[in-house]
Amino acid sequence: MGHLKFFLNSDEINLDFSLNGHVTRTRYFYKSMMLIDSHAHLEMPDFKKDLEAVIQRAKGSGVEYIFTVGTEKKDWKRALEIADSHPSVYAILGVHPHNAKEIDDQTYPMLKELCRNEKVKAYGEIGLDFFRNLSPRDIQLRRFREQIGLAKELGLPIVVHDREAHQETLEILKSEKAEECGGIIHCFSGDDEMAKVCMDMGFYISIPGSITFKNAERFREIVKRIPLESLLVETDAPFITPEPFRGKRNEPSYVRYTAQKVSEIKKVTFEKVAEITTENALRVYRLQFSP
Ligand code: NI
Repeated sequence: MGHLKFFLNSDEINLDFSLNGHVTRTRYFYKSMMLIDSHAHLEMPDFKKDLEAVIQRAKGSGVEYIFTVGTEKKDWKRALEIADSHPSVYAILGVHPHNAKEIDDQTYPMLKELCRNEKVKAYGEIGLDFFRNLSPRDIQLRRFREQIGLAKELGLPIVVHDREAHQETLEILKSEKAEECGGIIHCFSGDDEMAKVCMDMGFYISIPGSITFKNAERFREIVKRIPLESLLVETDAPFITPEPFRGKRNEPSYVRYTAQKVSEIKKVTFEKVAEITTENALRVYRLQFSP
């Protein structure tokens, strides 16, 4: 016979079932008044000096989990190190469209290996950036398609980066049947129609700090019409710092300003936004198992 072990953390219950030395863990989250920063870049040099303080401040602001995104080869191991050494941090790995031109024969085998780590909860960020065009467009398109295939092979949801490439992003998501892996449209900047198509494919829409900007009226109108059940909040730290800290370095604790703005726009309580966006994030990253 196997046996069950049961233990509590600050906000989760772990049930370990062991049989013949093999342990299966089921994790239940039960605290709802918490926030999740669904997308940050803690491995970037901006956080080198005060990473521990940044993670502590996030905890202190109710941000229980941070998903840090390693976007290129030099960052993957660092992202994993941070996730491995902090229970509140998980990792997302992939090749950003800016770095698409750097992909070589070694890249995918290396990612496959690294993504076996159980702290890796998604594949990304992948997609298209036709604003900065740091990699040639044809290469971005090809690598985006390939990486959707790789994510499916790995059984991971994808995190999509789309800047000034809405049409092409949608075409690829559809033709590559991205609904099979699902995932997140990070830093959403599309319109109602795009949001609808993505939601129909089972994707979540992640809202960054730019929603707090004075000139973001149109964006706020669009977010108002997206159901809370499809929304996540993110910082994309160190970038896109929300008001009232715009111009300074962004960090995960500031995700509450984004959640606060979403609550104002949708005329629901902050607690409700925290609860639903947390449930959404736990679901898409497959951290929640219903009892
Ligand atoms: Ni990012």
